[in-house]
Amino acid sequence: MRIEKLRIFGGNRLEGATNVSGGKNTALAIIAAAAMALEPCQIENLPDIEDIRVMRDILLSLGAKVELEGGVMRIDPRPLELTQVPEQLASKLRASYYFLGALLGRFGQGEVSYPGGCDIGSRPIDQHIKAFEALGATVETEYGRIRVQADQLRGATIYLDMPSVGATINAMLAATLAAGNTEIVNAGKEPHIVDLANFLNAMGGHVKGAGTDSIRIRGVSRLHGCTYAVIPDQIETGTLMIAAAASHGDVLIRGAMPTHMEALTAKLLEMGVRVDEGVGEDSIRVRSEGRLRRVNVKTQPYPGFPTDLQQPISVLLSTAQGTSIVQETIFEMRFKHLDEIRRMGALFEVNGRVAYIHGVEKLTGCPVRATDLRAGAAMVVAGLMAEGQTDIYNVHYIDRGYEHLELKLKGLGAKIERLTEEGSLPSY
Ligand code: UD1
Repeated sequence: MRIEKLRIFGGNRLEGATNVSGGKNTALAIIAAAAMALEPCQIENLPDIEDIRVMRDILLSLGAKVELEGGVMRIDPRPLELTQVPEQLASKLRASYYFLGALLGRFGQGEVSYPGGCDIGSRPIDQHIKAFEALGATVETEYGRIRVQADQLRGATIYLDMPSVGATINAMLAATLAAGNTEIVNAGKEPHIVDLANFLNAMGGHVKGAGTDSIRIRGVSRLHGCTYAVIPDQIETGTLMIAAAASHGDVLIRGAMPTHMEALTAKLLEMGVRVDEGVGEDSIRVRSEGRLRRVNVKTQPYPGFPTDLQQPISVLLSTAQGTSIVQETIFEMRFKHLDEIRRMGALFEVNGRVAYIHGVEKLTGCPVRATDLRAGAAMVVAGLMAEGQTDIYNVHYIDRGYEHLELKLKGLGAKIERLTEEGSLPSY
């Protein structure tokens, strides 16, 4: 078997400037939304990652014409006529279920198998189903497939039990082409929900209140084409900020949105890291020296601390002075990465959704595995911090969501390379 790994020689200070790529999660929602238009759309600033290529393949499989080159996707949704997303594509990523909302809006029907995505908890979709039903659709789940159908979608008030990002997005997609007014109450407020609203409005939709917990949508009968650039990736920005702090570096992160990073910035400042907005409003400079201080972290929906940065920051805390308490309130199985860094010398206990991380002087490199996308990023942070050589296996998880991460880090002075070898995953 041919396997790829990232090899890092840790202990190198990251220095210099790097650029943030376009947002993965925002791009995935916007690409699905483009399927609802009756004219071509051009989506720009897309990251060069596997998840984007899978979304292109889904659009192609449904009949759309799509070109993807240099971070720009040109989508002609006019020939799109199929409403069943092939299972082998749907199972590759979570966001495939956005085609339920998009196809339901445009055609009154859609079918997707249970979506894939990271193995970080049970990830039910009851809130998505509730939203579709509130809009007048029938939802059948059978043999691992979800089928939605409606003769006429009608605007409604949709109460979400929790501010689910995915359910908010699916409800926004379907409600945009429903007849009448919709209100999504207890909606997600994440930056990519705002970006999706801006995109829907650029296509002629009427979405108001995105970024607050009440989103109001006036349904329209058709959406036209547009050209739209997605916002920078909040989680990649955060990962680079944590990597800079982990290496005691001095890094300028360009093309970022500092306002999206406030929860992480607050924690890094508390730890003793210097974080400044760089020259121009769209950059962040991160500097750190010496041993960092412990902090407590509790993941929450935006604007709270993002669960997707919990894994990288808990690795950073593994060498901070004192015991940090990390509480994961969003996903119930998001501490698997800690088992990997235990092998590098980290000390911690996990009790349910709470991890007690006792900072050690240093981590020591060894073979580790990425157990999911953000855990993979966390392993890269661990490798940068550790003494000696760290080999990270299951690189495909990282490639799903980070554009050329190793090249960006190499440009900042990290000793990191991608190796391909014949063999099998290490068993330990
Ligand atoms: C999205 C992001 C993911 C991020 C997460 C939380 C994408 C493609 N993925 O995932 O990177 O970690 O937001 O910021 O954008 N829930 C239910 N029922 C539902 C839906 C959700 O119980 O119908 C629960 C989930 O199990 C979880 C919580 O709500 O505990 C939040 O999930 P949600 O915000 O929906 O996450 P995703 O959209 O799957």
